[in-house]
Amino acid sequence: MTAPTHSNDLNNAVTQDAMASFSKATDPRLAHVMSLLVKHLHAFVDESQLSKAEWLKGLEFLTAAAKITDDERNEFSLFSDIMGISSIVDVVSQPPNGTPSSVLGPFHKHDSHIQPNGTDLTQGQPGVRVWLHGRVLDIHQKPIPNAQIDFWQNADNGLYPAQDAAQDPQNLRCKIECDEHGAFSLLTIHPNPYTVPTDGPVGALLAASNRGIWRPAHFHIIVSAPGYIGLVTELFPAGSDYLDNDAVFGVRPGLIVDVKNCEDTEIAHRYGLTAPFKELVFDFSLVKQA
Ligand SMILES: [Fe+2]
Repeated sequence: MTAPTHSNDLNNAVTQDAMASFSKATDPRLAHVMSLLVKHLHAFVDESQLSKAEWLKGLEFLTAAAKITDDERNEFSLFSDIMGISSIVDVVSQPPNGTPSSVLGPFHKHDSHIQPNGTDLTQGQPGVRVWLHGRVLDIHQKPIPNAQIDFWQNADNGLYPAQDAAQDPQNLRCKIECDEHGAFSLLTIHPNPYTVPTDGPVGALLAASNRGIWRPAHFHIIVSAPGYIGLVTELFPAGSDYLDNDAVFGVRPGLIVDVKNCEDTEIAHRYGLTAPFKELVFDFSLVKQA
């Protein structure tokens, strides 16, 4: 490192040295990403003229996040969400032409049971019944046979099973094998808005920033099929509160859906409903793997 002549030179020299320090990484992608991370973090410190007290406060925030994080609760993931990082990672990794993706969120479980296509998930619980159905297509609108839907949502009280011991752990979630025409259907309830966890350092940051803590009502869905790029997405019923103020920035225009009245008496009879009942129809488009 050459001797600096003033503080800007010193900044530049430290930044250049710190960036170069990753150049020997065996994985070239690691070298590239870490070098860029150093570059932009240093630029942030320089532009904000971050004080030592502010830097210490940042370290205290990360320490508090570590203390509250365990297998069930990840405060760093929540921090990523409320900073919009999870969402922008999602946007930059989205393949073109398919259904928009959205954030996974913290409540997905891998062990949802496979239920028959057309399953009734409501099991007598409170909530407005919604018949959710559609197809899984490729980007040319051709059905993809035997795709899989992985579905989960919150209950009428706004809580997921992981937050509510009164719920069966499998409540309002399932996997469904679509038929040979890519079609799927299930009966569920209308989801509800809910707040992100506010009892940790992220909650304190949101409060100090006078930021909203709510997410709009949404269904979570992962769509997968052999040979296609998997889709992690959410469907947001139109008219839900907080659509324009999602605490984790997950709403995309193409994912706001109309829940309409359906007059189909055969479907009503199948599920023990009275027509008209609520219906949501949505076709997902998957992009082929390269
Ligand atoms: Fe959610």
